[in-house]
Amino acid sequence: YSLRHLNTFGVAASAQAYLPVTDPAQLEQVRQDAMLAALPRLVLGGGSNILLTRDFPGLVLHMGIKGIEIIGEDETATYVRAAAGENWHQFVLWTLEHGLGGLENLSLIPGSVGAAPIQNIGAYGIEIKDRFHALTLFDFATGEQRVLDKAACRFAYRDSVFKHELRDRAVVLDVTFALPKQWQPNVRYADVAHELAARLITEPTAQDISAAVIAIRTRKLPDPAVIGNAGSFFKNPVVTPAQRDSLLQRYPQMVNYAQPDGSVKLAAGWLIDQCGWKGRTAGAAGVYENQALVLINRGGASGADIAQLAAAIQADVAQRFDVQLEPEPIFL
Ligand code: EPU
Repeated sequence: YSLRHLNTFGVAASAQAYLPVTDPAQLEQVRQDAMLAALPRLVLGGGSNILLTRDFPGLVLHMGIKGIEIIGEDETATYVRAAAGENWHQFVLWTLEHGLGGLENLSLIPGSVGAAPIQNIGAYGIEIKDRFHALTLFDFATGEQRVLDKAACRFAYRDSVFKHELRDRAVVLDVTFALPKQWQPNVRYADVAHELAARLITEPTAQDISAAVIAIRTRKLPDPAVIGNAGSFFKNPVVTPAQRDSLLQRYPQMVNYAQPDGSVKLAAGWLIDQCGWKGRTAGAAGVYENQALVLINRGGASGADIAQLAAAIQADVAQRFDVQLEPEPIFL
């Protein structure tokens, strides 16, 4: 079964078996089926955070469960539940159309609702953990459905329990968000503030911020429907203040952000750009012209081509800055 249209890199790879999942009961059927249960499993949503480096000798579960519902409210929040197979951006637009602010900074992120908690998607000053209430998962180990609250998901920067203990075991079925009753615009990110200022907007609504974020992302990031990519290919590395200081002595222009916990985040895009990789091509893979953190498929690249380019970039950044870049997408 070809997975080319199921990953936003547009890489050609195939799976031994494929099942579109539109009902959670199908997962229990897989679990009870001796032949299917024995296969390695790959859960796919929008396929926007995965690099397929080879054919998959197993079963792809393609999450297509649909539904969005306001399930309740209290003094602080309105609770909205979305099924795993909903498209993330369409879901964000749905909340805004229903007058619910809170997710607007996360507009236009590719992928599905069910994949969003796996890497705790984030952009322009918000991560989904900031709006997360709970999720329901199917546990392949026990066959049960379980609800996890925010603490149990152990969210961190582009990380969660689903990349660790629950990696080959949990399938997210739906996610519930707590959207604040006392909505406040988050325009702390300079790009967003500038975009709103350019639009002469001084008191932005959630819709205004969504429109601004859509404009910024459209300028900076390639549309996966046109150029294969998986967004940022590396996480922004976290270093100690001492490492930052010694790097700043050699590179006074280095972009860096102090974190609340005292550590320092560097801009991986800046590090890669400094090594001269922006806009370069390596076979059919390449580095995007407008954002050095985004690796692209220039047409016909294999997952191995992209992985090779990523390794070359990591080696250069390590040699020049003594900083280890960690990939953001999951490698298969
Ligand atoms: N920069 C360069 N050269 C480049 C790219 C960036 O010098 O080629 C510099 C920029 O000038 C800026 C800094 O690096 O000073 C940071 O760049 P940018 O604001 O574009 O954000 P980012 O750190 O590259 C992160 C997220 C994005 C998210 C944006 C906005 C990660 C790995 N990436 O990118 O998330 O949209 O911030 O919040 O944290 C994603 O995860 O797929 C993703 C797109």
